[in-house]
Formats: sequence, structure tokens, C-alpha cells
Amino acid sequence: MSQLPSQSVSTRVMMCAPTFYGLEYEINPWMRLENRPDTALAMRQWDNLFHVLNMEAGADISLIPQVEGCPDMVFTANAGLTKGDCALLASFRHPQRALEEPYFAEWFTQQGYTVHTPPEGCKFEGEGDALFAGPNLLAGYLKRSDICSHRWMADILSTTVLSLELADDRWYHLDTCLLPLDQHRVAFYPGAFDEYAQTVIRHHYETIEVELEEALRFACNAVVAGNTVVLPTGCPHFETELRNCGFTPLAVDMSEFLKSGGAAKCLTLLLN
Ligand code: ARG
Repeated sequence: MSQLPSQSVSTRVMMCAPTFYGLEYEINPWMRLENRPDTALAMRQWDNLFHVLNMEAGADISLIPQVEGCPDMVFTANAGLTKGDCALLASFRHPQRALEEPYFAEWFTQQGYTVHTPPEGCKFEGEGDALFAGPNLLAGYLKRSDICSHRWMADILSTTVLSLELADDRWYHLDTCLLPLDQHRVAFYPGAFDEYAQTVIRHHYETIEVELEEALRFACNAVVAGNTVVLPTGCPHFETELRNCGFTPLAVDMSEFLKSGGAAKCLTLLLN
């Protein structure tokens, strides 16, 4: 019999409706100016994700309004990392996204968080590169976040950080290639990590290995809410693996956000 994960309390997330979403620059291998998203379809896909997270996965969703001129602000996973009343604010690698920082800082402050900014010159892209998994904080580095952010997070949050080197530009954020499922299980695409990071992940967790084809469809860029996993469409093998582990996969079409290098997880920030 498959082992059922424990039902957690309601998942709280922050999202940003794609009012001014678009593709205006190229900062990852997925973004191509000649392959811009259909913004009306993007809005429908976002509405559907909101609905599925809220009505089917039972998530409690807070919104931040999108600012014109910040087309990637919809990817709220990059706003920062929260735990308790601490919000560790992002310091983006690219100037195009650094414009978002003051708006996220203001939102966290208004919500009652104590906002911490990374040390001078240390890049950090929030939950895009930092995911809690059981007793540890898994943290990616090299592509977007700098490894100096790991010590900073460990000190503020008093948590153990496992540093994982990202090895392929297509999976430039940790949340594009790794998904914590519960206290002791993570799904990941090994090819996105260097050998040592793969060893670290396998040493600390039971793992589900995602295949290349589905990793390219951002299978790992999913939101876990209790037993429900909201993931992008086109990942049938991963869905089967999830069912075998006692989870209920719910697939949502994310085509217009994949053009910017993001999917379901990137569009949500967990309020831990
Ligand atoms: N176009 C955005 C960027 O390159 C996508 C961000 C995706 N976010 C994520 N958490 N993986 O920054």
C-alpha cells in the first residue's frame, strides 16, 4: 500500500495577476523576443492556476498588484523567502528584475514582516533558489543566487542550509528542477545539478527522479498543498510517480509562462 503524506494546515501563498505581463528582454534560455506570450491566454492560465490552488488545493492566496514596467513580477517566487515574521528580500541578478525589489519590500512590510536585505553585492532570488524540505533549507546557487546568500539565510533563520550547485542554464533556478514533496521526499531532475549536489540530495532524502523530457516541461515547478500537487501539463510519468506516492496531481496549462522560463511554482510564493 502506498504511504500517504500527512495532511498539512492550509497553504498560504502570494501571487501577482499578470496585468502587465509580457516578454520585453531575454535573461534565461527560454526567453526569446520572437516568441512572446499571448497575454490574454496568459491571463486565463493564471486565473485557472489561481482557481485550482484556491478551490481544489485549498490554498489561501494573497495578492500583490503588478507594476507596469515589471513584466516578470508575476513570478512572485522570486520576491524573497519567508519564515515566521521574517521576509528575506530578493536582490536580483538582472537589473530588469531589480526594479521589482522595492514593491516586494513594501508588500512584506505592509503584511507585518520584518524585511531583511541580502549583504551588499550578494545576489539572491528568493524561493526560486531556496526551498524548505524537512529540517533543511535546500539552496541553489551559481546561475542567479550567489553562495554568500546561503550563510546569510542560515544565520537569520537559524536553519541548516544544503548548498546545491546548478549545472545547466536551462534550469537556472532551484525551483525549476527540484520539488520538496514532504519532510523526507523530494522530486528532482539530476541532470540540472553537479555530481556532488546529486549526492547530497540522495543522501538526505528519498527521491523521485524526473526524466529529461518532463524536466524540460518544468515538471518540478509545482506547488504542493497537503496531498495535492499542482504541476504543469505534459508530465504524465511524473504524475504516475506522484500518485504511487499517495499524492493527487492536478495539471494546469502554463504554456504562456514557460515562454518566460516559469510555471506554476514560479507564480507563487509560499508564506511559510
Ligand atoms: N523570466 C523570469 C526570470 O528569468 C522567470 C522567473 C521564474 N521564476 C522562478 N522562480 N523560477 O527571472
